[in-house]
Amino acid sequence: MAKQMGAWSCCLAVAVTVGLIALVVFTAISKRPTYSVAITGVAGLDPAADLLSASRPTLSPVFNLTVRIDNAHWWLSTACVDGSLATAAVTYRDAFLGNSSIPEFCAGKGKVRERGARAWSHGVDLPRLLRDQLAGELAAGEAAVDVEVMAPDQECNDYHCVDMVLTCSQAKIGGGPAPCKMMYENVHHPHQEGSTD
Ligand SMILES: *[C@@H]1O[C@H](CO)[C@@H](O)[C@H](O)[C@H]1NC(C)=O
Ligand SMILES: *[C@@H]1O[C@H](CO)[C@@H](O)[C@H](O)[C@H]1NC(C)=O
Repeated sequence: MAKQMGAWSCCLAVAVTVGLIALVVFTAISKRPTYSVAITGVAGLDPAADLLSASRPTLSPVFNLTVRIDNAHWWLSTACVDGSLATAAVTYRDAFLGNSSIPEFCAGKGKVRERGARAWSHGVDLPRLLRDQLAGELAAGEAAVDVEVMAPDQECNDYHCVDMVLTCSQAKIGGGPAPCKMMYENVHHPHQEGSTD
């Protein structure tokens, strides 16, 4: 009897050890999906012709941007920018410069996927101080904007929605991808008020 117990606890110890090693190895080689945004091009923000020009009281910038999901090191699930209502907003020091819809896309397990989008606005009244600053930074090749991607929950239950928000700070214009912070925002009411039933 005692001998049998001994054999069992031995097997159990081996199983637990193997399990722990597998977990450590898995944790070491896996990395949760990451998101980033790159500003690949911009129009309508030329320092001389637009930003510093007295004949342009308002601006109409256009940004080419790329949203990237890096799911290359995660083997458990697909990572997505969900839904048909996702949008990206571009700001410069909290001033709105443009927005765009983002088509739904996903990166499967072990995959990297990108989507291009064009964010724009028409007749933006950017304060003179910010125009001067942005012109200087653009001329120096150092201008950066912030991008927020909002993907509203498409499967809200009766009480709340969980929206996905990517906050991508300091995306350099014409520079490499800026990493995004990913958050789920709990909204305690459904987007669609008044259901049909
Ligand atoms: C933005 O991308 C489009 C093609 O998708 C291209 O025709 C256009 O020149 C780009 N604009 C800038 C400012 O990079
Ligand atoms: C962009 O922002 C404007 C003003 O807030 C809004 O009316 C428009 O629907 C937005 N467009 C997208 C694609 O989010």
